[in-house]
Amino acid sequence: MMNEQIGKCRIIHGDSREELLAFKGEVDLIVTSPPYADARRKHYDSVHPDKFVDWFLTFHESFYNALKPQGSFVLNIKDKVVGGIRHRFVWKTIEALCDRGWHCIDDYIWHKTNPMPGFWPNRLRDGWEYCFHLAKSRKPHFDPDAVRKPIGDWVHSRLARLGNTDLKRHDSENKSGFGRNISKWVGKQTVLPSNVISVALVGKNKGHPAVFPTDLPLFFIKLLCPKIGLVVDPFAGSGTTGIAALSVNRRCVLIENSATYCQVALRRLREEGKARDDELLPFIETETPLAQASLFEPTRKYGKRRKA
Ligand SMILES: C[S@@+](CC[C@H](N)C(=O)[O-])C[C@H]1O[C@@H](n2cnc3c(N)ncnc32)[C@H](O)[C@@H]1O
Repeated sequence: MMNEQIGKCRIIHGDSREELLAFKGEVDLIVTSPPYADARRKHYDSVHPDKFVDWFLTFHESFYNALKPQGSFVLNIKDKVVGGIRHRFVWKTIEALCDRGWHCIDDYIWHKTNPMPGFWPNRLRDGWEYCFHLAKSRKPHFDPDAVRKPIGDWVHSRLARLGNTDLKRHDSENKSGFGRNISKWVGKQTVLPSNVISVALVGKNKGHPAVFPTDLPLFFIKLLCPKIGLVVDPFAGSGTTGIAALSVNRRCVLIENSATYCQVALRRLREEGKARDDELLPFIETETPLAQASLFEPTRKYGKRRKA
C-alpha cells in the first residue's frame, strides 16, 4: 500500500489476517495485544487456551510477510490460569512461532505498578505481563538511546565522593566476572533502561475492556521503529498504539474487526492523540451502520477480501 494511502494514521475495519496482505514488506513494527485465551468473551471473540496456538498461527504469515527484513513484532500477552494452574499456551505459541522462522530476541516484562486487587488460594496478585520481542532478523532495527531514562538523584551523593576503587575498573570480589568503573558515571544524565517496563494500568474507562497504557507501545515504538517508520497494530482495540505512534511522529495502521472499537479508536485519536482530520484516513468498512454496531456481533464477515 502506498504511503499517501496510509496517511499519518489509518484505521482499517477488518480482519488483520487479510488486511495485512496489502502491506507486504512495508511495516517497521507490529506492536499488539491480541485477545487472550478465554478472556472477555462478552466483548470480543477469544479461543480456549488449548486452541490458542493454532488460532494464533493463522495470523503469523500475514504478520511475517508484512514486516521489512529489519522489522520487529512485539506481542503483549499473559498465560491464563486454568483450574488453579498457569496454562502454558503463551510459551507454546512463542515456540511455535520460532519453529516457523521468527527470532525471539528478548522477553520484556510489563511491570504493572498498580495491579488489580484480588485473592486466590494458591497465588498472589498478577503484577506483570510478557512483551515478547520477535523479529525476522537477528539484528532488527534497534535504537536504545531513544529509550534512555534520567540517571536518578542517587548520583549526586554517590558520585560526590569517589574512593580509590571507584576510579578504575573494580572487579567483583566474589569472582563472579562482573565489574564496574564508577568514575565513568560522572557527568552522565541518562542511562539505558532494563527490559522491565514499569507502567500503571489504565484506570479510566476508554470504551474498550482491555486497553493497555499508551506508554507501553510507546516504549517499543521508540526502541524498534525508525523515525517516520510505519507501525501496525493488528488487534487495535481502542487505538492506543495509534496515539503512541502519532506522539513520536511515526505513521500507523490500526486494524480492528469490530466497527464499534474502530469508532472508539477514531475518537481517541482525535481527542487524546490530537490528530487532525487531515492526518486521519479512516477506512471503516462495515455491514452495519456504525452507530448501531453491537459489541457482541461480528460486523464484517471473515473471508470477504477488500480490493487493495
Ligand atoms: C486485547 S484487545 C486490544 C486492546 C488494545 N491494545 C487497546 O489498548 O485498546 C484485542 C482486540 O483485537 C480485536 N480482534 C480480534 N480478532 C481480530 C482480527 N482477526 N482482526 C482484527 N482485530 C481483531 C478485538 O476486537 C479486540 O478489540
